[in-house]
Amino acid sequence: MKILSIETSCDETAIALVEASGGIKRPRFKVLKNAVSSQVALHAPYGGVVPNIAKREHIKNLPIILSEVAPGKKVDVVAVTVGPGLEPALWTGIEFAKKLRRGAFPKAKLVGANHMEGHLYSFLLDQKTENPKSKILNPKIYPAVGLVVSGGHTILLLMKSLTEWKKLGETRDDAVGEAFDKVARMLGLPYPGGPEIQRAAATGNPEAVNFPRPMLHDKNYDFSFSGLKTSVLYYLRDHKNANTNDIAASFQKAAVDVLVGKAARAARQYKARSIVLAGGVAANASLRETLAAKSAELGLNFFAPSMQFNTDNAAMIAAAAYIQILKKKSRRMTAQANLSL
Ligand code: KG4
Ligand code: ZN
Repeated sequence: MKILSIETSCDETAIALVEASGGIKRPRFKVLKNAVSSQVALHAPYGGVVPNIAKREHIKNLPIILSEVAPGKKVDVVAVTVGPGLEPALWTGIEFAKKLRRGAFPKAKLVGANHMEGHLYSFLLDQKTENPKSKILNPKIYPAVGLVVSGGHTILLLMKSLTEWKKLGETRDDAVGEAFDKVARMLGLPYPGGPEIQRAAATGNPEAVNFPRPMLHDKNYDFSFSGLKTSVLYYLRDHKNANTNDIAASFQKAAVDVLVGKAARAARQYKARSIVLAGGVAANASLRETLAAKSAELGLNFFAPSMQFNTDNAAMIAAAAYIQILKKKSRRMTAQANLSL
């Protein structure tokens, strides 16, 4: 089935066209188009996303991106993110999807999707559709530990299957992406901070400052990144000549140590066969490499989205919508700012 998917939960306006097939054990996705228009430059002066600017830009950009994607006449499903995200931004996508369904695609099914499920399923997006035996589609990859890390969320999951999971823990304060963004700001680096920290860290010394690894040795699977962020703030206050690259590298190492340490411990405790990484922070090379190496050391499969599907995109929304259709589950077509996994 052909899915036209729309994502406007934050500061990316995205539309994708995805051919989805297969059942719940072996869903397959062929991404035909994946268009993303980032508003980053407009929000950068404010150091974060301004909801009303996001709304205005989504309204302006959606028709332009749709004409780029040129979906043709045959669309079986129009899918749209209904949450979580910024409410005014979510509504622009929902209204646009409803309008398309009334106008251009009257026969299409309208499906509301969960943005976080989209992130979680984005590791499925670049599989080779020609090779149904590829490991990623093998039910034996479960149980898996899922680590979902974005600008708004830091969640550790135990996945019994693609559609059944239990939340093992989540952040008690800042999300890890938010900590990257805030530390970048302290260092005078532009928004969004994640890629900037990574760039600065590449030539810095990760052992320069021994920042705390919050909750790494606690028995639970919750996270806390606000204390780590504050440690960087105090360090910068007390060391006026601190080297930006060293601070970036030391902060990144502390964050990665906590994420990898906890994911690995969960994998051991629950005898997982795989670790699945997802969300915008999954774009971080140090996190990917460290978690991939740890997974190999533990004899586990490691799955992470290919680069264009880490940060917000609409192809992942098509995947979430398709899996939801297979589960015969539907969602309200209203903005649900706090929708969870
Ligand atoms: O998933 P995403 O695009 O949006 C949300 O749903 O939040 O994630 C955005 C977050 C931002 O905090 C951004 O700084 C972070 O992902 N990010 C990174 C990297 N690329 C994006 N963090 C660390 N390293 C990166 N390379
Ligand atoms: Zn996201």
